[in-house]
Amino acid sequence: MQLCLQLIVDKYLDHFQLSDKTIMDLSIRFRREMDKGLCRDTNPTAAVKMLPTFVRSTPDGTEQGEFLALDLGGSNFRVLLVKVMANGKQEVEMENQIYAIPEHLMRGSGSQLFDHIADCLANFLEKLGIKEKKLPLGFTFSFPCQQTKLDESVLVSWTKSFKSSGVEGKDVVSLLRKSIKKRGDFDVDILAVINDTVGTMMTCGYDDHHCEIGLIVGTGTNACYMEHMRNLDLLDGDEGRMCVNTEWGAFGDDGSLEDLRTGIDREIDAGSLNPGKQLFEKMVSGLYMGELVRLILLRMTKEQLLFQGKTTPQLLTTGSFNTSHIFAIENDKLEGLASAQQVLQGLGLDPSVEDCRTTRRVCQIVSTRAAHLCAATLVAVLRQIRDNKAAEKLRTTIGVDGSVYKNHPEFSRRLHKMVRRLVPDCDVRFLQSQCGSGKGAAMVTAVAYRLAAQHAE
Ligand code: GLC
Repeated sequence: MQLCLQLIVDKYLDHFQLSDKTIMDLSIRFRREMDKGLCRDTNPTAAVKMLPTFVRSTPDGTEQGEFLALDLGGSNFRVLLVKVMANGKQEVEMENQIYAIPEHLMRGSGSQLFDHIADCLANFLEKLGIKEKKLPLGFTFSFPCQQTKLDESVLVSWTKSFKSSGVEGKDVVSLLRKSIKKRGDFDVDILAVINDTVGTMMTCGYDDHHCEIGLIVGTGTNACYMEHMRNLDLLDGDEGRMCVNTEWGAFGDDGSLEDLRTGIDREIDAGSLNPGKQLFEKMVSGLYMGELVRLILLRMTKEQLLFQGKTTPQLLTTGSFNTSHIFAIENDKLEGLASAQQVLQGLGLDPSVEDCRTTRRVCQIVSTRAAHLCAATLVAVLRQIRDNKAAEKLRTTIGVDGSVYKNHPEFSRRLHKMVRRLVPDCDVRFLQSQCGSGKGAAMVTAVAYRLAAQHAE
């Protein structure tokens, strides 16, 4: 009976289940997209932008000092004070505070948004009694940016839930400086802007010198890695390496994922803040996963496969099924089924045990697809690094952060398993970072500060 139900759901969601062959094919496709982004001639039309970050090395452990960091673009906005000790033990002390960014500011005017960030920073400095100090600051700004140097970062386009006006095409460092100057009651020295993937790689790189990839699977999804300068066609110079922010969330924006996208993926996209953009991200990340499940449940109900064909106003409401519900429903069998019942009842439904099982299966299929899609792109990055090093067997570490990776009970295991299956010849360590994106901004700033001091000598 149970098996029969599972077969029906699996058949219904056939298009969501990717074979190993499809995942491998996708990985090869993504590798081509990476090349397109890296190459000067094809970059302007490439969907995957492969943005240079001007971060050229991971920390070497000799950094020290007190640094401020801002972290904007994940599920929380944070202000941090990071003390880096050069005592040979690579110790870092940290104070941090989360501030809310009200929705009207995410989608209002850019100057209001940056004024709010400056207000939060002032509040933080005041609380710690350090408003009089002019500290170096690193800014984690988790959106696609064109950089020409470490402390200049022009927003290409907003992604996820942000859409404030007058910021796209502008340097976010100038906007922040302007808002701080307008207040006039404190000053900081903004030395670096980085992506959250870069922050994660840097934080993990402090503990593990093999770390050369940063991965985020949270509200959005993206990865960065250390690329050889000789492959970075967009920049002069062939010596050494530089971190590249792939912005893989935009994979497919040129139509290259059309064979894999389902009707539900198209529906999600049509109802989003940025239709036609970030198509890969919309199949993978936490901002969309709950909504994917809701839309599937709704379709199945309308086709009499669930809830005796009865919908409720809540089930019909956009955003009523959170991604965190998926985390709970995919928990251990009994606990998961109890959560399913609770969540569905919360949507005004009266689910049978079968309805709960079906819902759980839908969650599993959607989140497994996400993990496998991520494995495909990650494997392309691993192969690029392996080929760059001309190594037979690659030994590397991936720094990871993000709510889906950390809080989903099965996501990380499924991702690791698929990566190892696709590249058995790579010895990959996944290292979870704590507060990685923010702390990483302080690390990058610390490195920049150390290098500036060395130049001044
Ligand atoms: C989105 C952003 C990207 C960020 C990712 C994870 O894809 O465009 O810059 O790294 O979300 O937060």
